[in-house]
Amino acid sequence: MRLRNVPRAGEIIENSPLVVKTPEEYRGRWEEAFSRKAPLHIEIGMGKGRFIVEMARRHPEINYIGIEMQTSVLFRAVEKLQQEEPVSNLLFLCITAEKLEGVFAPGEVDQIYLNFSDPWPKDRHHKRRLTSREHLALYEKFLASEGCVEFKTDNEGLFRFSLEEAPAAGWELTFVSENLHEDPRMGENVMTEYEEKFSSKGQPIFKMVARRKA
Ligand SMILES: C[S@@+](CC[C@H](N)C(=O)[O-])C[C@H]1O[C@@H](n2cnc3c(N)ncnc32)[C@H](O)[C@@H]1O
Repeated sequence: MRLRNVPRAGEIIENSPLVVKTPEEYRGRWEEAFSRKAPLHIEIGMGKGRFIVEMARRHPEINYIGIEMQTSVLFRAVEKLQQEEPVSNLLFLCITAEKLEGVFAPGEVDQIYLNFSDPWPKDRHHKRRLTSREHLALYEKFLASEGCVEFKTDNEGLFRFSLEEAPAAGWELTFVSENLHEDPRMGENVMTEYEEKFSSKGQPIFKMVARRKA
């Protein structure tokens, strides 16, 4: 994602009640942050938030947390949402995936979405890919037993890598599609910003759902 230095990004995030500033304090009690008990679904690397905002609107019975490490990207989601109908079942965190063990207690998250994650094409960077076995092991520390990771990408190399990593980490593949938009099994599909961009150019969208072992 192309980044610009946006001076007002920090200020907008700092002043927004949508962004939880000290998420570690809610570890094991995210229900309090939402003032209700409900399943918790998270998106890691949400970008400008189109996917998670739409999911939260469509599924008011679920609590959603969007996670994005770049303030210069996250503030776009915050700014946009401030001009729209409020969503009470959605919060944002400005944090990297690698710190999430300190934010969520074991079993606290019911579902993880990874959309168009950075491919990290160099072999020596494979551990940084959000579908690497190292990251799957990290997700096991807070994902509910039999919880799933849903992953979409335009990047075939990252997709093939992910299809190997999940079983190697002991996860079960429950859905694999090499052309999601043409797949009769697609079901509900909320498009992300990147998905819109790539699919409008005619590129196939790959999707994998992996379930963690019980
Ligand atoms: C290619 S963009 C995709 C954005 C959005 N999910 C979409 O599909 O339109 C990937 C995003 O993930 C974020 N990201 C990458 N690695 C991350 C990490 N380790 N923790 C949190 N966010 C990350 C990047 O800052 C970037 O905004």
